[in-house]
This record gives sequence, C-alpha cells and structure tokens, in this order.
Amino acid sequence: MEPKEADLVIENVGQLLTMEGPGVGLEEGATVSCAGGRILEVSPSAGDAAGGKTVKLDARGGLVTPGLVDPHTHPVFAGQRSVEFGLKAAGKTYLEIHKAGGGIMSTVRATRAASTEKLERTCARNLDALLAWGVTTCEGKSGYALETEGELRLLEVLNTVGARHAVDVVPTFLGAHTLPPDVDRDEYVAQVMEEMIPRVAQRGLARYCDAYCEDGAFTPDETDRIFTAARAAGLGVRLHAEQFTDQGGAELAARHGAASADHLEAVSPAGIEALAASDTTAVLLPGAALTCRCPWPPARDLLDAGTRVALGTDLNPGSSYTSSLPLMMSLACMQMQVSCEEAWRAVTCEAARCLGLDDVGRVTPGCKADLVIFDAPDYRYVPYQ
Ligand code: NIG
Ligand code: FE
Repeated sequence: MEPKEADLVIENVGQLLTMEGPGVGLEEGATVSCAGGRILEVSPSAGDAAGGKTVKLDARGGLVTPGLVDPHTHPVFAGQRSVEFGLKAAGKTYLEIHKAGGGIMSTVRATRAASTEKLERTCARNLDALLAWGVTTCEGKSGYALETEGELRLLEVLNTVGARHAVDVVPTFLGAHTLPPDVDRDEYVAQVMEEMIPRVAQRGLARYCDAYCEDGAFTPDETDRIFTAARAAGLGVRLHAEQFTDQGGAELAARHGAASADHLEAVSPAGIEALAASDTTAVLLPGAALTCRCPWPPARDLLDAGTRVALGTDLNPGSSYTSSLPLMMSLACMQMQVSCEEAWRAVTCEAARCLGLDDVGRVTPGCKADLVIFDAPDYRYVPYQ
C-alpha cells in the first residue's frame, strides 16, 4: 500500500492522551497526523507524513485528547422545569414531584406539543453545548413522548440532527421511561414490547433499548420482559438502575448482558458483585446525584471490584440540566474518590466501549480524528478547573 499523505497535522502538542494501555497513554511532545478524518500516525516528535497540501494546526503546547464521549444523554425535549427546580430547592424530592404528575411527565406534555422543527433546534443546541465542552460523540435517548408515533418521531430527530452535527449520536429507544397516567399498565408494557420495539428495530432507528426500573416507573419483572423483547429484536440494552431505590436492576442488567447499568446511587453489594462479574459498564451520573440530593454512586467500590466505569452528564431538563462532561469528571475526582486517570478513561475509552464503538475515545491509527486541544498544561488540569 502507498504510504498515505496526511491532510492534517497537529504540532507543538504538550501532553497527548492516547488512552492506550491501562492508564491514559500519556505522551509528551508528540505529533498527530490525520488523513480523511482518521488518525494516520502518532509520532514521538515532528512527523514526516506532511505534504504540500497538509493543514498544520499549532496546539501551542496544549493538551490533546480524544474527543470526549458522553454515554448517557436525553437531548431531545421541549420546555423546561425551572419551577420544579424551585420546588426541589424548597425541599420537595424528585420522586415526590414525579409521582404528583410532574417531572418526566411535564416534559412529555411539552414535547408532545412541540413541532418537529422545534425539537430539532433544541436537540442541535444541546449537541452544540456538549461540543463546547469537548464532546464529539454522545448517546442520546428518546423517552419524552411515550406513545408509538411520538417515540419514533424523537428517534428520527436524534438520527437527523446527529447526521448533520459535528457530534455523532448513538440513538437509544426509551419508551419505558415512565408510565403515562392515562394508560393501563399492562397495555402500555405490551405496546412497548409488541409495537414500539419491533418498529424501532425494523426502521433501524436505535441501537439500544433503555428502561427506567424504579419505584414509580417500571418493575424489575416488566423491565425483564421489555429487555427480552428488545434483544429478540436485535437491540442492545442499557438500564436506568438503582437511582433512588435498590430494585435489583444491576443484577438484571448483568443477566441480560446489558451494555450499561446507569445511575447506581442505591446499588447493593450484590449488585456491585454482579456488575463486576459481567461485561456491563457502570455509567455514573454525578449531575443527577447532585441535583436529586442522592448519595454519590459508589464509584470506588465499583472500580475496586473490577467493574468498568464510565461517566455521563445525563443531560436532561429535570434531574441533571448540564452539558459539562468535564464537570462530571471534577465531581468524580473530588467527591467519589475517582483518580484523574480513571476519570479520563471514564469519558473516553470506557464510554466508547459501552456504546459499542471501537474507533473513538482513543488516539491511535485508524480511529476517527475526533480530537480536542485543551488550553491546559496537564491532563489533571481539566477536572481540576
Ligand atoms: O436519568 N430518572 C430517569 N430519567 C432521567 C431523568 C429524566 C427527567 O427527569 O426528565 C435520569 O435522571
Ligand atoms: Fe437518564
């Protein structure tokens, strides 16, 4: 094969995080060459892959990392919940508001009423905000329509906006987000399994199916049946598990070979053990723990048990209205006994892995040339500031 010529070379790099090996793959003074949107070469000093047409980018001694990967977001919704934020500030809990018909259902009402153009604009703005914090790939969930045509519409929005935005979106179907108050429980679960999942899968609108297994949402038995239907339709599964109460969701996720079990503020020792023995990644969401006044998820216990850990923003208008993945790294390092190296892995290679992606989250030949140049002298500076 002819040696390829680089069309983009990043020079004058201070620290580079390749995320190769068990740590962060730290290299100093490297040069990164790219061609056709892929990484061509990482050389220890000035590279020789440059030709006459090569664009050279001066990193000015900054930190170069893989584009961040956010493995848990809800970016397509309408409306906002600042009034509920005020109620929470005055002492009400997330579950109290949820059970009184607010919370997820207030966003469902606004989302159902919004035009597709409006949803696309909001979704694109949320992706802009993630990108501004260095995110180049995110998972994105539906879940604010809770009826068949509406859920399909939200997934279409995620696919359409993701295809034209700099941030790549991995779409997840979350028809089992909560039970709409006006429907029969069993009929709704049957609708998710027999109508929504087959149509989502048949149209290739999502890679994963998610569910909210919680007091006030879906039971472990309902989740189990929904996951069985999703897997039979060829979808991967991920779960909102143990956010407020221990439902055995971590064990259930592990049993189904789920890509991830997310939240886990209330996970039990048995749940941690089940995750550690499985290939399921624990996706921790410090923004939701902070907003909902939950205990921090037991990141240290999970890591020490050998569980794979990723970090997400959980960007949504209720439980975690933030797009700053670096802030999630800060919270993990400052409050959850996560090391800076573990935090970096959690928003790059580990997050990519739990989305089934092998060409992002690392800086190595063949990977997408999704890179961030931080104006930072050291990789610890990002969670630090
Ligand atoms: O991940 N808890 C369930 N789902 C979201 C919140 C969605 C919402 O409050 O609108 C979460 O926290
Ligand atoms: Fe969520």
